[in-house]
Amino acid sequence: MKWLCSLSLLIGFALNPALAQTTDLPDPALPRDDYVTALLQKMTLPEKIGQLRLISVGPDNPKENIRDMIEKGQVGAIFNTVTRPDIRQMQDQAMQLPRLKVPLFFAYDIVHGQRTIFPISLGLASSWNLDAVATSGRISAIEGSEDGLNMTWAPMVDISRDPRWGRVSEGLGEDTFLTAEIGRVLVQSIQGKNPADRHALMTSVKHFAAYGAVEGGRDYNTVDMSPQKLFQDYLPPYKAALDAGSGGVMVALNSLNGTPATADSWLLKDVLRTQWGFTGITVSDHGAIKELIRHGVAGSPREAVKVAIKSGINMSMSDEYYIRYLPGLVESGEVTVDEIDDAVRHVLNVKYDMGLFRDAYAHLGPVGSDPADTNAESRLHRAEARAVARQSLVLLKNRLQVLPLKKQGSIAVIGPLADSKRDIMGSWSAAGRAAQSVTLLEGIRNAVGSQVTVNYAKGANVTDHQGLLAYLNQYEQTIQSDPRTPEQMLAEAVAAANKSDVIIAAVGEAQGMAHEASSRSDITIPAIQRQMIAALKATGKPLILVVMNGRPLSLVHEDQQADAMIEAWFPGTEGGNAIADVLFGDYNPSAKLPMSFPRSVGQIPIYYNHLPSGRPYRFDNPEKYTSHYYDEANGPLYPFGYGLSYTTFTLSEVKLSATTMARDGSITASVTLTNSGSRDGRTVAQLYLHDRVSSISRPVKELKGFQSVFLKAGESQTLTFTLSPDMLKFYNQQMQLIAEPGKFDVMIGLDSARVNSASFTLL
Ligand code: NOJ
Repeated sequence: MKWLCSLSLLIGFALNPALAQTTDLPDPALPRDDYVTALLQKMTLPEKIGQLRLISVGPDNPKENIRDMIEKGQVGAIFNTVTRPDIRQMQDQAMQLPRLKVPLFFAYDIVHGQRTIFPISLGLASSWNLDAVATSGRISAIEGSEDGLNMTWAPMVDISRDPRWGRVSEGLGEDTFLTAEIGRVLVQSIQGKNPADRHALMTSVKHFAAYGAVEGGRDYNTVDMSPQKLFQDYLPPYKAALDAGSGGVMVALNSLNGTPATADSWLLKDVLRTQWGFTGITVSDHGAIKELIRHGVAGSPREAVKVAIKSGINMSMSDEYYIRYLPGLVESGEVTVDEIDDAVRHVLNVKYDMGLFRDAYAHLGPVGSDPADTNAESRLHRAEARAVARQSLVLLKNRLQVLPLKKQGSIAVIGPLADSKRDIMGSWSAAGRAAQSVTLLEGIRNAVGSQVTVNYAKGANVTDHQGLLAYLNQYEQTIQSDPRTPEQMLAEAVAAANKSDVIIAAVGEAQGMAHEASSRSDITIPAIQRQMIAALKATGKPLILVVMNGRPLSLVHEDQQADAMIEAWFPGTEGGNAIADVLFGDYNPSAKLPMSFPRSVGQIPIYYNHLPSGRPYRFDNPEKYTSHYYDEANGPLYPFGYGLSYTTFTLSEVKLSATTMARDGSITASVTLTNSGSRDGRTVAQLYLHDRVSSISRPVKELKGFQSVFLKAGESQTLTFTLSPDMLKFYNQQMQLIAEPGKFDVMIGLDSARVNSASFTLL
């Protein structure tokens, strides 16, 4: 019956202009549910369907088209526009509609900064420092909300154990606990106390679910995994972000165990709504509803819409299908008005939470207050970006303490990434401007002034593979290739190296090589750069490699050639200054890898928390019929949690407060951490647990806690971790979350490979 009423309202609206008269919004003082219920009652079906549409501004959808849609009440939210005048104009239109004035919300991909670009997410995760994470979240929210935005498509918490996948750059690494912790802090720092606040944004955690496990690391590919692995390893970070209050969920493009996430009512309703109690919005990813046809779960666009809305997709991102097919589906009764109302309710819920019904201009401020220059230097937060960026730089190698460098003599600064303003920002660099970023060359010059002679040469292009260049420059010209021959460039670099005391070479990937749709089957540094590194090595000068990249690379040769190596990721607007801080010892490196670095692509997937297998390989007692490769080591080149410092840290044995734990009790594990070197510094103590015997095989170790600690040279500190039965729980074969009695190992280390252990019994 209900749909009949709405249908008559819809038809009535078209025939009877009286119905087009202004209708007031409910009283914004009403509690959310009452408000939204009252508002829904006032809405026509077309108005409701309009709320379900999320429209992207872009070359194929210019602002004029969108203005037309807004005027017809066909839009619920906009993304990809980032200036206050544009946003204000669109909001004005929505607020001047003749009948119901439901404000729009405005979203953007603020993944690692809006105008001031912070390190890419994988770099941020390398800090293992939740204060640094919170700084980047808070500044992103300030700058995004100052631009008039209400929502960001972040955090991206897809666990990935496959560096071939270009989107590992956007995530927080391979580990469930670390990702969940950082995801939680990002939500808290971006949304603040209330997403309606002047300097807060609502978050939309993505990509639900398990997008990071695409087969072969090939983007948009299939995901298939056991329920245990899904619930134990892959879902907790999304859940942590939602428990922290994230108002949005972006649904993944992949299928999971055969069902595309966009068509997965189990995932979007049973898990997300019923089990987890989520009341915010679900948003499909770009064009995902259309893609249900190619996935083979819908035979036509109309059917795709029916499947998506019934599965629990509230807003459709960038497609025309909801507006085209929902009216007919409602008319035929295939989709009920209740189903439409359910989706609209969630959209209105988040608009209410964003405070838009109280003030549609809350993030825009009064007319006339828009910044005269959107890109003004004064709008940036450089000090914060530099402080965070230097904590994201992982010291991988430092032979004979070649680092830190003294600010004296002469330095050759070489490499295709040494002076690239665009690359240092990384992919998804929101409204960041390359012109405002500091390259490594500039950072070094800023650090040394006139004290040091800096000899710069590009040395090589990022790649000389014409097909790859064409691919990377397809949508925007991001790679400027030097027209000189490789021989000319190399000769210039060798000459610069020969007249310098030390070489710093910035090598790796262009930012576009680690992005969406940027999977690789070869994770080495491109060949032309490897030739350059070999030529530099041949000069005999100390060689320091600064590697910029958006994924773990296979760095076996580089590890052999370099005297020192820094994993810089893409460190953002202040990246060059931050790297110089580390090179010259103005900052003592403290970052740790959030992903294992394979020796070769053949080892993938490689992750520290694997199961033991029935035939574990022992390198101290190698046996043929054990689990290993005969042409490659089992272990990574650099393990999860690894990173050096200019000082040395030592850890005492692990002390437990008791050797048994009651089922309703807890015990503590303590270690004394000592800075045994001669420089002040920060490191990360990592707590791992292992269940020795259980009803299903459990990982050799799992991260369950960490502490980022600063110690002065010579200083010691006792670190205490509380252990509780909750930390010992896992999904058993019947999918019950339980902690089984028995022995557990407690391991504490400064990386995942070298740990001190003790053990206790859960009663
Ligand atoms: C597609 C990407 O998968 C997603 O991460 C992003 O947020 C949307 N496009 C919007 O730009």
